[in-house]
Amino acid sequence: MTPRSTPRAGYVEEPPVRSTIALALPQPEREGLPEVFAEAGFGTIEGDGPADLAAILSLGAHVSLAIVDAGDEPATAIELVQEARAGLGRAVPVLYVVGHDALDALTAGLDGTDEILTRPVTPDALRWRLEAMSIRAQVGDGAVGETVFASGNVQAEWLAASPVISVFNPKGGVGKTTIATSLAAVLQLRRERDVLLIDGDTVTGHVALSLGLPLGTALADQFADEDAGEPHRSLIELATTHSSGIRVAALTNSPLSLGHLAPERVSEAIMEARHSVGTVIVDLHPSYSEVNLAVFAISDRIIVPVTPDLPAIRAAVQLKEIAMELGMLDRLGLVVNRANSGVSVADIEVTTGMKALGEIRSAGMAFVWSANVGRTVIEKFPKHKVVEDLERLADRLLASPGPARAAAHERDVRSMLRSLLGRRLPAQA
Ligand SMILES: Nc1ncnc2c1ncn2[C@@H]1O[C@H](COP(=O)(O)OP(=O)(O)OP(=O)(O)O)[C@@H](O)[C@H]1O
Ligand SMILES: [Mg+2]
Repeated sequence: MTPRSTPRAGYVEEPPVRSTIALALPQPEREGLPEVFAEAGFGTIEGDGPADLAAILSLGAHVSLAIVDAGDEPATAIELVQEARAGLGRAVPVLYVVGHDALDALTAGLDGTDEILTRPVTPDALRWRLEAMSIRAQVGDGAVGETVFASGNVQAEWLAASPVISVFNPKGGVGKTTIATSLAAVLQLRRERDVLLIDGDTVTGHVALSLGLPLGTALADQFADEDAGEPHRSLIELATTHSSGIRVAALTNSPLSLGHLAPERVSEAIMEARHSVGTVIVDLHPSYSEVNLAVFAISDRIIVPVTPDLPAIRAAVQLKEIAMELGMLDRLGLVVNRANSGVSVADIEVTTGMKALGEIRSAGMAFVWSANVGRTVIEKFPKHKVVEDLERLADRLLASPGPARAAAHERDVRSMLRSLLGRRLPAQA
C-alpha cells in the first residue's frame, strides 16, 4: 500500500488536493492512475484490492470515493467494502471495476449509491467518472435511476443527478445557440458544473466553430461506424474540450449524415452521457423534427428563448400548446432574450401565459466579438452585465432542475417517444 497524498504544512506550490481517492485495484491496471487523478486535483492512496480498503480508509481522513476491484467473486468484494465502511462509520461511495463475467453477480448485490465501470478501463474514463461521482456526492439528491445500457463500457445502477437542459424555440434567430453556449460556460466556469454541450442543430449547427474548436466525430458518423462494426464510443468520448472546460459534441457535422440519427438512439446516447457530467445542455434546430422530439422526451427542462417581437412570441405560444398536448408543459422555461428592447417582459408573460424563468439583456456586440476569438462571453467579458443575467438563470435552473426528475423518467422514455413520434406536428413554425 502506498500513500500518495501526505499533507505537508506550508506546502503551497501545488494546488490543494480536492479530496483523496482510495484506489484498490491490482497492478498493472492501476499503473499511471494516481498521476491522472493528481492532474485532476485528487490525491490517491493505493492498495491491491478490496482486502486493502479498510486499511486505506483508516489512513486517509479525507477519502471521499473508493475505486474497488470486484474480482471474480463480487460477493466477497461487497462484503469487504461493507466491513471497511462499518469500521469508518461514514458512507464512502464505491466505484466497482468489474469484468463482464462477474457483472451480473455484482449488480445483484449492490446498494444504491455505488456505481460500476466495466473492464477494460481507461484512465480518462475513470477520471471523468470520478469527477461525475464527486459532483453527485456533493449534489446528493439521492435520486436513483435504473438505466442499464446495453452498449458502452459503463453499465450500472446510477445516481440520476445530472439534468438535461435543451434549448428550443421553433422560431429561428431568437438566441438559442447564444444562450445554450453562454449558459454552459456559466455553469462550467462559475458554478463548477462539468458541462457537456451538445450541438443538436442538425442543419445549421456551428457551436464548435463559434468556440474555435475542430469538428470532432459527430454522433451520426459514430453511429455509422458502429453499424460497420467499430466499437461503441459515447458522446463524452466524441467530445472536444474547450478552453473553458466545456465539452462539446455534435449530433451531425453535415445534414447529409442525418439519416444515421435514429431518434431513439440519439436519446439513448444523451442518457448515457448524462451520467458522466454534471449538466447536459442541448442546442436544438428550430423545427419539430423527430430528433428534437426525442430530445424533448429526455429533457428535464426545455428552455424557450423568446425575443420581444411578435413572431418569436407567437412561436412560443404554439410551442406551449404542443407541449401541453404532449404532457410536458411543466418542462418549459421561458427566457426573455434581449429583454431590454421591444415588447415588455410583463406583456410577454401575459401573452404566452408563462412566467419568465430568466431575462437576458441585449449585449450589443459582446457575443459576436467573443465568438470571433473562439471564446464565450463569460471568458471574454467576465464583468459584462449580461453575465449576471446568465448567472441568475443558471442559479434558477440549478435550484429547480425541472419536474421530470423521477426515476420513472428514464424508464418511460421509450413509450413516451413512441407516442410523441406518432403525433402529427407542424414541420416548421
Ligand atoms: N442577448 C443578446 N444580445 C446581443 N446579441 C444577441 C443576443 N442573443 C442573441 N444575439 C445574437 O443574435 C444572433 C442570433 O442568435 P443565435 O444564433 O443564438 O440564435 P438561434 O436561435 O440559435 O438561431 P437559429 O434558429 O438560426 O439556430 C447572433 O448573432 C447572436 O450573437
Ligand atoms: Mg442556433
